[in-house]
Amino acid sequence: MFNRRKFIKTSAISSLALAINKSAACTSKKKPTTVKPVVISTWDAGLRANKAAWDVLKDGGRALDAVEKGVMVTESEQNCCVGLGANPDRDGFVTLDASIMDEFSNCGSVAFLERIKHPISVARRVMEKTPHVMLVGSGAQQFAVAEGFPLEEQKLSTDAEKNYENWLKKSEYKPPAINIESLPAGKVDKQDHGPFAPKKLENGEWNHDTIGMVAMDANGNLSGSCTTSGAGFKMRGRLGDSPIIGAGLFVDNEVGACTATGQGEDVIRVAGSHTVVELMRQGLSPEAACKNAVERIMRIKGEKAKDIQVAFLAVNKNGEVGAYAIHKGFSYAMKTNNREELVNAKYIMD
Ligand code: GLY
Repeated sequence: MFNRRKFIKTSAISSLALAINKSAACTSKKKPTTVKPVVISTWDAGLRANKAAWDVLKDGGRALDAVEKGVMVTESEQNCCVGLGANPDRDGFVTLDASIMDEFSNCGSVAFLERIKHPISVARRVMEKTPHVMLVGSGAQQFAVAEGFPLEEQKLSTDAEKNYENWLKKSEYKPPAINIESLPAGKVDKQDHGPFAPKKLENGEWNHDTIGMVAMDANGNLSGSCTTSGAGFKMRGRLGDSPIIGAGLFVDNEVGACTATGQGEDVIRVAGSHTVVELMRQGLSPEAACKNAVERIMRIKGEKAKDIQVAFLAVNKNGEVGAYAIHKGFSYAMKTNNREELVNAKYIMD
């Protein structure tokens, strides 16, 4: 039976809730102060990459120049996962993927590129000097050489050489989760980590599969870059998300920018970075948008989500940053005028 007293009480509570919500909405309408410039990038190596990006941003330089210069640092480091010294494919060849995008939605990418030290710079040339967005394989290499990039000899880093030797013993292809906490302290040589194995560098830092970087410059313009050798011991010709605009990287200068790391196949499935930017357009914070995209992948993968790692890292037009990962262990580097730090991202699964 209808209870009038209960109705009045409920209505009063509802009105109060509405009033509180309205006042919260009024408060949240107040535009937060924009933090700029700001640069964020994936994993420990991002700390060094951000420094190079910051050299551009602090002097009022363009975000596009910052994100190119930044990830070039990582491409030059002889490490397991980015650049010429990285883990090879199963046939022993290092093949590199990279993409870049600016504030005007110009974009360029290269994939399956061999023997070129800075794929990110070739991606930028594709963007600026060709009518195309992507060049791959021997065509990308031919373009790079024509643009004056030297053809280098492949020289695996010590880590990559060891990883490949270990992999050859079993030749298994099993993409695992990245969960550095699960590794015994100081031990890095488990042989079955597969394509996205975390590796400890000589300086004691962890380095991982990809560097993705997004930045906003002093003028409030956004750009992003992403570069990788992809999954270690991958099938020859395999591409992940990093060179795919909308998957490994997406920038919309009105809304925000996002980059991804982890198992590229699953990032591509949900057009991951584009999804995150579209969710920010709908009003989600960068962290909430990244979480939503991670959860979407987990719903698709079901039980198998426990076996993969994917993480997103995003910045919005106010300079707010956020990230989310499937598994514990993903960190990102952040630099602003008054902050420089490595942040442990939130995650869904231990
Ligand atoms: N996220 C890097 C790759 O899947 O190739």
